[in-house]
Amino acid sequence: MRKNIVAGNWKMNTTLAEGVGLAKDVNEALKGVDAKCDVIICTPFTHLASVAAVIDQKKLGLGAENCADHIKGAYTGEVSAPMVASTGATYVILGHSERRQYYGETSEILKTKVNLALAENLTPIFCIGEVLEERENGTYFDVVTKQIQEALFDLSAEDFGKLILAYEPVWAIGTGKTATADQAEEMHAHIRKVIADKYGKEVADNCSILYGGSCKPTNAKEIFSKPDVDGGLIGGAALDAASFMGIVTAF
Ligand code: 13P
Repeated sequence: MRKNIVAGNWKMNTTLAEGVGLAKDVNEALKGVDAKCDVIICTPFTHLASVAAVIDQKKLGLGAENCADHIKGAYTGEVSAPMVASTGATYVILGHSERRQYYGETSEILKTKVNLALAENLTPIFCIGEVLEERENGTYFDVVTKQIQEALFDLSAEDFGKLILAYEPVWAIGTGKTATADQAEEMHAHIRKVIADKYGKEVADNCSILYGGSCKPTNAKEIFSKPDVDGGLIGGAALDAASFMGIVTAF
């Protein structure tokens, strides 16, 4: 079933003590509200086990920001999907534009990561989105279609149904330049059509598609009001419990 979701992506921020403190603050704040959406925090690997120990995962989901494209072995510095699952986390962000841009993650690599994550019962939060040049030269629908087709369309309908998608226009990430609610809706509707063409209307209608990119308490309500926008993947504003909660309560 399609759900409304607000997920935080902490990226490479917070020390362990700061991260555990932030997680506790969000966990505590959630006790006082009747959230109309699922709430998830995705933290650095180093924080996962400690955060898992202090939050109520019935109210606040926990995820990693990445996992390796191998299951185990001589891959110094990598963290596998089974390792992530063993911390108590149940989500994993895959294909974030920062991973694609700075660490050379291709659709082929991401396809492997998605399969490894699903094998551990981790829910991938799979990111797609165009860069500024592609927005400006009008190829953005094709770019996003290709990202979905290449990395995800070998999945069975059942497995595809386990994914959360996040549309993050790269030009809106950390720039303060949000896509307008209409730009977000236009792309989300396109994504849902791409899914429907491959897997049918039911799978498409049940898929949660989040918007990410300079989402804040001040703009979340308008963006989330759009019919094909099912929530947000939040970077900077997720690093402060009050502003994150301001987005959670936009639903
Ligand atoms: P900002 O909210 O900081 O723009 O980051 C969005 C993002 O990349 C979430 O994954």
